[in-house]
Amino acid sequence: MRIRELIHQTAMKLADGGLEKMEAARDARLLMQHASGFDRAALISRENEPASPELVERIRAMVERRAEGEPVSRIVGEKEFFGLRFRVTPAVLDPRPETEVLVDRVLADQGDREAPTVFADIGTGSGAIAVALLANLPSARCVAVDISGDALDVAATNARANGVDERVDLVRGDFLTSLSGSFDFIVSNPPYIVREEIAMLAREVREYDPRAALDGGADGLDAYRVLLAQAGPLLKPGGRLYVEIGAGQAKAIKTLARAGGWHVIDAVTDLGGNERVLVVIAM
Ligand SMILES: C[S@@+](CC[C@H](N)C(=O)[O-])C[C@H]1O[C@@H](n2cnc3c(N)ncnc32)[C@H](O)[C@@H]1O
Repeated sequence: MRIRELIHQTAMKLADGGLEKMEAARDARLLMQHASGFDRAALISRENEPASPELVERIRAMVERRAEGEPVSRIVGEKEFFGLRFRVTPAVLDPRPETEVLVDRVLADQGDREAPTVFADIGTGSGAIAVALLANLPSARCVAVDISGDALDVAATNARANGVDERVDLVRGDFLTSLSGSFDFIVSNPPYIVREEIAMLAREVREYDPRAALDGGADGLDAYRVLLAQAGPLLKPGGRLYVEIGAGQAKAIKTLARAGGWHVIDAVTDLGGNERVLVVIAM
């Protein structure tokens, strides 16, 4: 069997397991890249070569793991986010495409992308948001906070791999408690799942994303209460707080924000029409 046929066969098996066709084709290629050690371009140029029995076996084992619910990013240990590659380990949330909406919005708000801005990323996990922003704001510096030391190790690896490590300070801490200074803006994709609903999430999420990345407390809003209480004094005048929010949480978080003395500037909707990013400014 040639590599091309093995990719096709793998995609069919993934689709049989419930993946949508395009996703199955993309995942089959990613698994093959990982199993063969070829990058994307090498794989294309070597598709006509025969697949060795070892390669066939490696792919079979990976498809089995995928069928058991393990996300491809966990199997291959990396994920693409905002066009960059991120290492993913059990210590960090698998960076999600919907979080790119937040990065896009922050970048759209930067009048001068060369300006020497200073921002904080609270609950940085893999460093996805911080690294993507730094990669697109060449003079910016970031303080990236997480409560998990293991997550910060992953963020450090990702910052280095993407060439922004000299502009990020990684801090272990509880939300904004250990921070001082004054930031141009603060971003956060905090844990926001209602605790009782974690058990009902898809297996890919509940069994593979770290609990600390998901658990938003009894009503899912614990992290927003803390962020809204702590962020104001750490922002420069006119500085904005950008938070990713769960589908259906916009109304409650806007109410919390207004009660805490914030002005809600905007809510960014995802492709499904759900408000998923709130932009607020201290009044
Ligand atoms: C939803 S994940 C977001 C990860 C990453 N920013 C992203 O968007 O992919 C939330 C992160 O917040 C961290 N976290 C949870 N509680 C925290 C706290 N009290 N202080 C700081 N970080 C916390 C978790 O460890 C996790 O890495």
